[in-house]
Amino acid sequence: MKRPTVIAIEHLTYTYPATERPALRDLSLTIPAGQFCAVLGANGAGKSTLCYALAGFVPHFYRGRMEGRVMVAGHDIAATPPSALVGLVGLVFANPFNQITGACYTVREEVAFGLENLGVPPAEMEPRIAQALAVTGLTDLADRSPFALSGGQQQRLALAAVLAMQPQVLVLDEPTSQLDPAGTREVFAVLGALAARHHTTVVLVSQALEWVATYADRVIVLAEGRLVADGAPTDVLTRPEMETWGVGATRYTQAARRGQAQGLAPTDRPLPVTLPQAVAFWS
Ligand SMILES: Nc1ncnc2c1ncn2[C@@H]1O[C@H](COP(=O)(O)OP(=O)(O)OP(=O)(O)O)[C@@H](O)[C@H]1O
Ligand SMILES: [Mg+2]
Repeated sequence: MKRPTVIAIEHLTYTYPATERPALRDLSLTIPAGQFCAVLGANGAGKSTLCYALAGFVPHFYRGRMEGRVMVAGHDIAATPPSALVGLVGLVFANPFNQITGACYTVREEVAFGLENLGVPPAEMEPRIAQALAVTGLTDLADRSPFALSGGQQQRLALAAVLAMQPQVLVLDEPTSQLDPAGTREVFAVLGALAARHHTTVVLVSQALEWVATYADRVIVLAEGRLVADGAPTDVLTRPEMETWGVGATRYTQAARRGQAQGLAPTDRPLPVTLPQAVAFWS
């Protein structure tokens, strides 16, 4: 069954105020419901700007010059008031600390905070909170202080608070950059499950190539504001140009290439991007 398109970006060119060079250039992209799409690219490639354009920070907060159109679930983002975007697009940033209010005594209250602001009726709040905590694996920590959580748990709390608002589209800008490998894995597993089971459309900026390779359905690469690659993770992550684009390759791809260069590895198999693929490649 073909999934309906949820995100449609049409020839988006965007330049921040008081700058010359566009941060995004003639970007066109469609993303279907329930797809987990990872965004890669070097520093300054435009990844965060793309997140802002999806969440409406561009053009509602950043202003600047915008051409083209960003449609999310049939809404033209530039023509939709930011207040109406809250239930549509959820944005999660790199640092959970920036997103935890500091005004709540417990994890449960923290998740309730956004719902109260949205004006969700009390009877509807409890099941939404319970579900957001369950999906992020925080049910047992509901009565803890947000400040008594590990970094990974805090990032999952930031995610739970956004999830409780039930956005159709979840946009995450390097949400695991502060996390250790275990925390990173937790967040990716939650996102994978959300896309697969709950049909949430996930757009994720990440440098964690191995986890992107494991969980994402699709990978796009930005370079100097342009879309330069778009495809299945295994294909995109093994492109030779990934070095030029400043993304690099997973250690499994690097090792396989080194092995091939030294005549130690097969040259007739697809390059691996994950550990299970590497095991198959070398055996
Ligand atoms: N608030 C701003 N005002 C002016 N220019 C900006 C602003 N934010 C970003 N830029 C510029 O827009 C371009 C894209 O930046 P963006 O932050 O989207 O890149 P990025 O891919 O997220 O980079 P990073 O990997 O460092 O997070 C860069 O040239 C950057 O300098
Ligand atoms: Mg960024």
